[in-house]
Amino acid sequence: MDQEKVIVIDFGGQYNQLVARRVRECNVYCEIYSYRTDMEQIKAMNPKGIILTGGPNSCYGENAPTYTAELFDLGIPVLGLCYGAQLMMHVLGGRVEKAPVGEYGKTEVFVDSSSPLFAGIGSHTAEAAGVGCEAQLSDEHVTVCWMSHSDYIAKAACGFSIVAHTADCPVAAAEFREKNLYAIQFHPEVLHTVEGTKMLYNFVRGICGCAGTWRMDSFVENSIQEIRKKVGHGKVLCALSGGVDSSVAAVMLAKAVGSQLTCVFVDHGLLRKNEGDEVEAVFGEEGAYDLNFIRVNAQERYYSKLAGIMEPEAKRKIIGEEFIRVFEEEAKKIGAVDFLVQGTIYPDVVESGLGGESAVIKSHHNVGGLPDCVDFKEIIEPLRDLFKDEVRKAGLELGIPENLVFRQPFPGPGLGIRIIGEVTAEKVRIVQDADAIYREEIAKAGLDRGIGQYFAALTNMRSVGVMGDERTYDYAVALRAVNTIDFMTAEAAEIPFEVLQTVMGRIINEVRGVNRVFYDLTSKPPGTIEFE
Ligand code: XMP
Repeated sequence: MDQEKVIVIDFGGQYNQLVARRVRECNVYCEIYSYRTDMEQIKAMNPKGIILTGGPNSCYGENAPTYTAELFDLGIPVLGLCYGAQLMMHVLGGRVEKAPVGEYGKTEVFVDSSSPLFAGIGSHTAEAAGVGCEAQLSDEHVTVCWMSHSDYIAKAACGFSIVAHTADCPVAAAEFREKNLYAIQFHPEVLHTVEGTKMLYNFVRGICGCAGTWRMDSFVENSIQEIRKKVGHGKVLCALSGGVDSSVAAVMLAKAVGSQLTCVFVDHGLLRKNEGDEVEAVFGEEGAYDLNFIRVNAQERYYSKLAGIMEPEAKRKIIGEEFIRVFEEEAKKIGAVDFLVQGTIYPDVVESGLGGESAVIKSHHNVGGLPDCVDFKEIIEPLRDLFKDEVRKAGLELGIPENLVFRQPFPGPGLGIRIIGEVTAEKVRIVQDADAIYREEIAKAGLDRGIGQYFAALTNMRSVGVMGDERTYDYAVALRAVNTIDFMTAEAAEIPFEVLQTVMGRIINEVRGVNRVFYDLTSKPPGTIEFE
């Protein structure tokens, strides 16, 4: 892709995808790379700016991830965040050490708004000047930021000026304006930093001089043309799961190559209630698109493979592998196929350890790479560079109906990862029915568009209850609902108690095999959004 970009060097901190996400909000394309990426590669990418992220290490520790001073001498603007800020100071001759007082959470930061990084940031306060710190900033404003650090910059490197401080942190930000080097101790990428996106905007659009050309309409148009060029007269096979990602990918392909595309929709028996039929209604013969649609009813095959399997990663692997097997079989029936399309999106890439430095939290079966025995020439992943909300924007650009674009996200492994322990047809029936009731009531209460993701899951817990005069020994259903912007962090949604009670009452009365209903309050982290 020949366009301006900023690169994010990932030092393993938990918010690192958010950094990239926020930069893209500024209409600047950006990619995440591991701190192991060497200097020559960085130079070859010719980025307009470099952002060094936070991370769990101490920059003065043995084997701490680092770069040589050359990184700061490439003539490319660099912004260091938290660990990245400390590293910049450490490498350039400043002093970083364990802070006498660590800072965690929302903190008032006094910034110098004459710095290009803080232009237009904060409100003026006469009281602010000098509070808790000897440093006086030339044009001091106050703003609330998210701090999370135990090391601190005790002394900025030579050539740097201090442009922000807090009551406990003398160097909350520093700049070397002539060299375009900026260091921020706090996390502008986190929403709790009220004006964080503006700070990142100031860096990428102001300091780096990016024009802000990353837009979904041009992305969609370019992608369609690139796909056409790449595919030529070839045959394309698309894995359609029915989720937002693969649906958007399928429509993009359909628009690019029309009936050269065959979509195989594997109904693995782990879909939401009636979903198989709904997908068929959209993409099948009655639907609006000119493509070949094949539905494979593989329910029994999946249930028998999953029998006796308890462990979540093992379930994911089986579901993923089976997917490939079904595909192989279909491909054989269809004949020679040149390309395989997958709905991989950027967080899948990064979380699978292929992009940044984040630990492999879970394997995503839909990230590229198929076994040798599969007879496809190449994989096409048209959404590989996009975050989830960008996929939705692309969907709207493609003219996909809003109800499809804004449907609940649904993972590739489906209900297989919403059932704790062994997956059986009976458990699938329970979770499908409970989930359908939950979704119906949430929509009735007018809450469906306001919640990031919500669904019912099945715990593996059975307990004693009483229904009528009968003793029961049945399952507990867990209701999950989270508010999230990017699916990397999330908080439990506040659903009115009456709605929860209605859902509970209906599930217990209408779904055989359930005698308790829980509401899951866990945020992410430490939980995940899915319930596996
Ligand atoms: P977690 O559970 O990781 O979920 O907090 C974050 C988002 O990703 C979805 N998810 C998946 N999507 N394949 C997918 O396509 C998967 O294997 C997968 N696992 C989780 C999840 O529904 C949520 O939106």
